[in-house]
Amino acid sequence: MEIDSETEKTGLIGHPIGHSKSPEMMNEAFRAKGLSYLYLACDVAPESLADAVQGMRALGFRGWNVTIPHKVAIMDLLDHVEESAREIGAVNTVVREGDRLIGTNTDGEGYIRSLLRETGLDPTSQRVLILGAGGAARAVGYALARAGVQEIIIANRTESKAERLASHLSRWALCRWARWTELGDTVRKATLLVQTTSVGMHPDIEAIPIDPSLLHAGMTVSDLVYHPRETKLLQEARARGAAVHFGAGMLLYQAALAFQRWTGREAPVEQMRRTLDRSLS
Ligand code: ATR
Repeated sequence: MEIDSETEKTGLIGHPIGHSKSPEMMNEAFRAKGLSYLYLACDVAPESLADAVQGMRALGFRGWNVTIPHKVAIMDLLDHVEESAREIGAVNTVVREGDRLIGTNTDGEGYIRSLLRETGLDPTSQRVLILGAGGAARAVGYALARAGVQEIIIANRTESKAERLASHLSRWALCRWARWTELGDTVRKATLLVQTTSVGMHPDIEAIPIDPSLLHAGMTVSDLVYHPRETKLLQEARARGAAVHFGAGMLLYQAALAFQRWTGREAPVEQMRRTLDRSLS
């Protein structure tokens, strides 16, 4: 597709953005659909965020993704923040509608879509245990609560954060927190375990957040860590007969949802998956 004066500009702002997989995946997706769109990775220091948003507004960007450390700070610089982003407490995608900049969050819905398409799981019958209470846990917890799961239990190393997130999610689902160090019964009863902490991430690939002997065949284990593709936790889960759900799925579907918002077209998900798999291997 030709790049010319009509080309729509999209991209990513973060700091640092060095190893982002998004530019390759998104530019390939635009090419696959024959769209004259461009996705640029922009390293924006925290003190330059307001200038960057003003600049992207002036340059007529169609939209962009937002990553660490700007996901919270950008909320005050936009014209409107949608409910998903407000409740998750972070914006990961900006969409220009007319001359207004709208903030949204596609992480939670991206997670649910990936879970449904890749495991076929019915969320309404799940007893969920979420490990972690940071940004990723907030997005996934909100989406699962809205999807109507039976129960959510949050466990986090810093217990006060688990307590706070559980209380927030109680508005949409039965939700409580459990002690990080006393998870035996909770894991045994869980049908969906969602690992949202950074434990097991490259280079610390032998690390595992819970005692693997608690994992069982009646559960699906979902790990948001995507590097390595199969974490130690997922290996242990598979060895015990549990179904596994890989972290790359959320990355893929949150990007596909952003693509749809910017272009008004279905995202070429399989093409994007191939590009992502290639860049992760
Ligand atoms: P993200 O946006 O990826 O969720 P975050 O908001 O910084 O990142 O959250 C990181 C999560 O991983 C937190 O739940 C953190 O636990 P604490 O709240 O106790 O810090 C968890 N985490 C990170 N390293 C961990 C470790 N070694 N053991 C257990 N939990 C860990």
